[in-house]
Amino acid sequence: MNKVAESLTGWTQPEAGGRRLHEIFHMIDEKTGRPLQNPAVNVLQTGGTVGLAHRTILVSRDGTERIIAHSGAPIRDQGGHLLGVALVFRDVTQQQKMEEDLLRTSKLEAVGLLAGGIAHDFNNLLTAILGNLSLVKMSVNLNDPLYRRLGDAEIASLRARDLAQQLLTFAKGGGPIKKTVSMEALLKESIQFVLRGSNVGVEFFISHDLWPVEIDEGQISQVLHNLVINAQQAMPQGGVIEVHAENYPAGEREPLALPPGRYVRISIRDFGIGIPKEHLSKIFDPYFTTKQKGSGLGLSTSYSIIKKHDGTMTVDS
Ligand SMILES: Nc1ncnc2c1ncn2[C@@H]1O[C@H](COP(=O)(O)OP(=O)(O)OP(=O)(O)O)[C@@H](O)[C@H]1O
Ligand SMILES: [Mg+2]
Repeated sequence: MNKVAESLTGWTQPEAGGRRLHEIFHMIDEKTGRPLQNPAVNVLQTGGTVGLAHRTILVSRDGTERIIAHSGAPIRDQGGHLLGVALVFRDVTQQQKMEEDLLRTSKLEAVGLLAGGIAHDFNNLLTAILGNLSLVKMSVNLNDPLYRRLGDAEIASLRARDLAQQLLTFAKGGGPIKKTVSMEALLKESIQFVLRGSNVGVEFFISHDLWPVEIDEGQISQVLHNLVINAQQAMPQGGVIEVHAENYPAGEREPLALPPGRYVRISIRDFGIGIPKEHLSKIFDPYFTTKQKGSGLGLSTSYSIIKKHDGTMTVDS
């Protein structure tokens, strides 16, 4: 094992000696989380070279997960007899994250363009529908069964208008209108606002020396709303949401693939149902939802807002 292999696996050469390979080189499939057949075994079976088949995660000794590219090749003596296997692997986590980011951003732009056009017209039409509904309601007797039907139509149209509004925000090409604010105040205000009167409480863990941030307050509080509503929906029996805020100085070789600079990291944690591993890569996609009445736009909107603020958004579950 060379130095890089030692640091990626977390095992030193002397410690690794005599142990079984899967203990040291513990690989799982990124999508399913299931252990993967070790490439060394394939090489031994086939006698040939093997390359990367799945997106593979190497779990190091301390549990750190890294995306790796790997290959294995047979080592033979002069007579062609199989002596062993050479395993070559490198950490491609950062590269993968950047590629995913790029793909996601371009997907969002494409959908945004389409959605923006539709949502705009849709909004105007809904205004006409809502106006007429309320006029008709005025001329119908309160006890008339039609009155309730009209009310239902009104509620549905209002929901459609909210949706169109959300689409518009999501699609808006223009950059955020930023000003310098204290994140602490914004966090407390907008999160408590959402949770007021619900069975979900919130605990704040905010560093007192938090750097001031330059943000579009309206947009960032929309992100907070989306995240907190998701957290709330994940805990139908109620519970507590933890909100952490701390300074995050990003340097070179940043694990989150952010350009170097001073950032503030906010994390919002719930203790609800969690997200299955196979959904983790999809939750920021527009229209991905597992909820009966969800639009699947909450997180994609949030993601594009955070991108426009030169930040990034990640998920753990
Ligand atoms: N805190 C969470 N706990 C569990 N699952 C979550 C959580 N946040 C998001 N998800 C999953 O991600 C999906 C996408 O979330 P997103 O907020 O984009 O859409 P939505 O909540 O389904 O609909 P919308 O926010 O538009 O009403 C959800 O349907 C859910 O499956
Ligand atoms: Mg949501």
